[in-house]
Amino acid sequence: MGNLKKSIFKLLLENRREAKEYQYTVPSPDSYPYQWLWDSCFHAIILTHYNTGDAKKELLSLVAKQFTNGMIPHMNYWQEPEKTNFPKIDWGKEDSSSITQPPMLAYAVWQIYQKDQDLEFLSNIYGHIKRFYDYLLKERDPRGHHLVSIINPDESGEDNSPRFDLPLNLPPKQTIEENYKKRLELISKNHKCNFDAPFCMKNFFWAKDVPFNSILVENLKILSSIADKLNFDEESEYYHHQASLIKEAMRSLMLEDGIFWSTYGKDYKKIKVKTWAIFSPLFAKVATDSEAKNLIKNYFLNPDEFYLPFILPTTSKSDPAFDPKGFWRGPIWISTNWIVFKGLKNYGFEVEAKYLLDCSIKLLEKSGFREQYNPLTGEGFGARNFTWGGLIADMLEN
Ligand code: GLC
Repeated sequence: MGNLKKSIFKLLLENRREAKEYQYTVPSPDSYPYQWLWDSCFHAIILTHYNTGDAKKELLSLVAKQFTNGMIPHMNYWQEPEKTNFPKIDWGKEDSSSITQPPMLAYAVWQIYQKDQDLEFLSNIYGHIKRFYDYLLKERDPRGHHLVSIINPDESGEDNSPRFDLPLNLPPKQTIEENYKKRLELISKNHKCNFDAPFCMKNFFWAKDVPFNSILVENLKILSSIADKLNFDEESEYYHHQASLIKEAMRSLMLEDGIFWSTYGKDYKKIKVKTWAIFSPLFAKVATDSEAKNLIKNYFLNPDEFYLPFILPTTSKSDPAFDPKGFWRGPIWISTNWIVFKGLKNYGFEVEAKYLLDCSIKLLEKSGFREQYNPLTGEGFGARNFTWGGLIADMLEN
């Protein structure tokens, strides 16, 4: 494992970029040569196993581009790379996008603090993270129903996931181009909205995604611990309470027959598409023990669903949208493996967690640091020198 840990650090160093006094890591030099929000949180989590100083710099560059309303954009364009095949989109902004991504920020901050107990860092970054979560709680839940919405599939981090076919009005079998066209149309509507979420963008796409809300619950609990550490007692209580409210709302509005489904529209229509997202509530302990057991027995360990030659596919083999080469419609991504790994650990599924880790290592050994992997063959796809395989360094320490 020593060699694997070394090659992960080498990759992160190669993908490191500097701009003015800031430092960040690009997910892949050719395909993704900018800074992304949840990627940088993953990078910081990985870097805590090597050097917390670098982990802090990764997050400080991220929050440097926070909007005045608290939103943190999902992409920051610090500088133009020499060459890239990344199709740049007009988000109506010079140096960043206008949408966000799954809120893994408090988690990354807390992991850094766990490693080096640097209270000064915690105190310096607290204002930023607080404003980010306040933004999500207010602007993305204007009716106060305690589930936050995303306004574009890309905000989920899973651009073409079949979870969003219904709200986008697309069939389960589709091309990547058809999906991309729909998402571009959405962005042009959002332009006309001036990217105002609660009053305008919600008319075009407004989905309550299970992983986004699960990640939010876990991060609000952590934000409460951070506030407590800084002696902000009332704020600590407030965030803890918000986490429980979202957990309850997930249980009452998303749960049916033991599975949490993402929903869309005003009346919470459930999107019954089986993706890895059904396991994401385990990350935030939103499911009961018996719900977790059912998910593992009937879905995780079921060869007709998710237990394929390589795991964990992002879409179940039994779903009509399943495509082992379809980006987020089947291939394995190490980030989602990491989230499920943490969830399995939360419920004591040690054997399954170890198997998921071993499988992730096997993929890396077989196909290198790729963006995604075919769950039937282990073949690597998409971006090369992609950083997320580095999350294995974190899984190995657990
Ligand atoms: C792809 C992924 C997204 C990620 C980005 C940069 O768009 O779908 O989750 O943040 O690449 O790695």
